[in-house]
Amino acid sequence: MSSGYLVKDILKEITLALNPHIERASREAQLLLMHHLGVDELWLMMNQNQHVDNYEELFEWVSRRAKNEPLEYITNKVSFYSEEFFIAEGALIPRPETELLIDEVIKNVKDKNSNITFAEVGVGSGIISIMLAKIFPNAKIVAVDISETALNIAKINIEKFGLQDRIRLRLGSLLEPISEHIDYLVSNPPYIANGFKLESNLSYEPRNALFGGEIGDEIIKELLDEVLSRNINFFSCEIGYDQQDRIRNYLNNKQPKKLEFYKDFSGFDRGFTLGL
Ligand SMILES: C[S@@+](CC[C@H](N)C(=O)[O-])C[C@H]1O[C@@H](n2cnc3c(N)ncnc32)[C@H](O)[C@@H]1O
Repeated sequence: MSSGYLVKDILKEITLALNPHIERASREAQLLLMHHLGVDELWLMMNQNQHVDNYEELFEWVSRRAKNEPLEYITNKVSFYSEEFFIAEGALIPRPETELLIDEVIKNVKDKNSNITFAEVGVGSGIISIMLAKIFPNAKIVAVDISETALNIAKINIEKFGLQDRIRLRLGSLLEPISEHIDYLVSNPPYIANGFKLESNLSYEPRNALFGGEIGDEIIKELLDEVLSRNINFFSCEIGYDQQDRIRNYLNNKQPKKLEFYKDFSGFDRGFTLGL
């Protein structure tokens, strides 16, 4: 006789425990149990009467999730652009809308075999630099972050994809640690105004990944200054939904060859590409 729960019973119990605290409790109960057992959806469906032992860690995860800690920090997994990445507290959880930033670069670099040099400011978990390295197999990438913890997480992902020869990580602010020529700068910088009241689940994410200054667009403007003074050909950047006008005004008398804004899945401004 085995002690413990059956799959179907533990799923019910976890769903009940999560239900008052989060939306999609039953789905997240499945995800936590699949992660605990190291199984996929099909296995879970076909094995509802299997015994689940050693569930103490699972219940610990459930109580963390009930306090609104993001699922991704508990399972240390996040998917982005159809790939699975390692994630942990200390790096921003990649958002689906950031996939649009990758699409933006693909639109502007027509030759996939180009031996272009990209720079990324604010690499976080590494998702953008890694996807660019995969999509452009001859590109070199220099990726910067001010957070040593984020760089350590990026390093784990870069090694997971075997890209350590193509992506160089540097600790520092903005483009200060990069002296070499850059063809294309990409960034999803912090762009929320300091003091903006965030939803409680965002409190687990690093503040310096979210807040971009008193107004919110200060880092974006510093990056624009760098792009203009270094004559970088292209700059694609994610922004907040209400920042388009201020960015346009900032570039008012610069007359770039190209300044195009793009929208996210909900129809809000989400980024731009500047071409010099
Ligand atoms: C919004 S997160 C983006 C992370 C990742 N690229 C992504 O899209 O998921 C912004 C990142 O910028 C970094 N950062 C903030 N200020 C910075 C600065 N002055 N220079 C370089 N990186 C900075 C933060 O540590 C954080 O990792």
